[in-house]
Amino acid sequence: MRLEKVQEVCLRRGIIFPSAEIYGSVAGFYEWGPIGFSIKKKFIEAWRDFFIKPYGFYEIEGSLVLPEKVFEASGHLKGFVDPITQCENCKTIHRADHLIEECTKMFVEGKSEEELTEIIREKGLKCPRCGGNLSEVRMFNLMLKTEISPVGGIPAYLRPETAQNIFTSFSRIFKAMRGKLPFGIAQIGKSFRNEISPRRFLIRLREFHQAEIEVFFDPDNPECPFFHEVEEKDIPLLTREAQKEGKEASMINVKEAVETGLIPNEWLGFFLAKEFEFYTKLGIPPECLRFRHMLPEETPHYSKGNFDLEIKFDFGWKEVVGNAYRTDYDLRRHSEFSKKDLSVDVNGKKVLPHVVEPSFGIDRTILAVLLFSFREKGYDRDWNWMKLPNFLAPFHAAVFPLVSKDGLPEKAREIFEVLKKELEVFYDEKGSIGKRYARADEIGIPACVTIDYQTMEDETVTIRDRDTKQQKRVKIEKLVEEIRKIISY
Ligand code: GAP
Repeated sequence: MRLEKVQEVCLRRGIIFPSAEIYGSVAGFYEWGPIGFSIKKKFIEAWRDFFIKPYGFYEIEGSLVLPEKVFEASGHLKGFVDPITQCENCKTIHRADHLIEECTKMFVEGKSEEELTEIIREKGLKCPRCGGNLSEVRMFNLMLKTEISPVGGIPAYLRPETAQNIFTSFSRIFKAMRGKLPFGIAQIGKSFRNEISPRRFLIRLREFHQAEIEVFFDPDNPECPFFHEVEEKDIPLLTREAQKEGKEASMINVKEAVETGLIPNEWLGFFLAKEFEFYTKLGIPPECLRFRHMLPEETPHYSKGNFDLEIKFDFGWKEVVGNAYRTDYDLRRHSEFSKKDLSVDVNGKKVLPHVVEPSFGIDRTILAVLLFSFREKGYDRDWNWMKLPNFLAPFHAAVFPLVSKDGLPEKAREIFEVLKKELEVFYDEKGSIGKRYARADEIGIPACVTIDYQTMEDETVTIRDRDTKQQKRVKIEKLVEEIRKIISY
């Protein structure tokens, strides 16, 4: 499996590895080492450039710990639950719905505890680990609870989505920024879920990064002013009908989908089309992308239509972005619970805005990028390499002296110091030049600069392109320009 191979590279190269490893680590928590963190930072910047900056949305940073009241209002306290069943013999806890789906291929989303228990009994399902009997199914809340204050602790939770800060702070931000509808607020940050069985590396984590945008608009005026940018575009949509009939996604024009009511409004259509473009730029083949209209029984409690952007991994289609039409659900509930009026004035009319939300999983997305860019040893060279999109590469270039003698390292260092002022560069003088190319390729560095004996004579170096392996000689004074050409700034 590609997943295991990429995971091995991530571990060996310190890109992404388990947290608190020296103590054995806890599933679902990962550290991002220097290379991984550099890729993540670049991803976040690219996301900002693509989804935030051109549209004048505002970005905030809210707190990770929020009081219980917030989640009472949002519905998470009651509804953010997964069904679990425990093996009476080995005590392993299983996600009841996943276990049933895996063993019987039945679709059981939205079924109650009683219904799930009945299916387990009827089908005679046993613990996949030891064959023991399974307990009755019960619901388990996925939020991580904590207490604030040393005495008489005030209950609080680590946020399970970044969105709630945006809803609870909406009124203040709207006033402070002299807002008018439509009005977009974004947040990039950590979310936490006490997942029952974290697995598949970055697919299901207990602590993960989300990038969410909440666009607030007047339901009587739901036009998206940027819709013209995307209205000609086609996107791969898997409709509810197609799902029922076991069909594949088909390319559907965004404008038509909005006009026929398949997509509930222009804002949602706009984000779906932008996402398709963005994920293609990330190197995910278009045929491995689709927007699945969630079936009514799977749609979250707050949503009037959800379209998941899914990627086809080796292990099946998985959601990487949740797109929801959250209506006025969150603002209405927070108004009721806080007794604060969260409506805004639109030409003398009181309006409780409706919301469209694209919610990106950063870790899952980066995992997809790593998997699709991974070229295994033997593909076209004798080592693994990553055809990372150049705008995500951890370094723009690597600088190597051909050998570590005869003044070459000193000259290479000098060049490295110059490049460092303009680009992100990496210096390495250990091992054979072939091994150093291989190490650079494995983490997706787009260009390698080698300082050799000729450099000492004519102030030229070789520059090697990661993808083509082609080398050419360039003048040192032209080096920044040449590297920029390769990474296509
Ligand atoms: N605010 C809406 C929301 O949070 P979601 O579909 O639950 O919606 C959005 O999550 C995205 O966050 C998912 O598409 C996924 O990429 C990411 N995500 C959710 N749970 C995750 C987990 N346990 N581990 C890694 N990523 C997760």
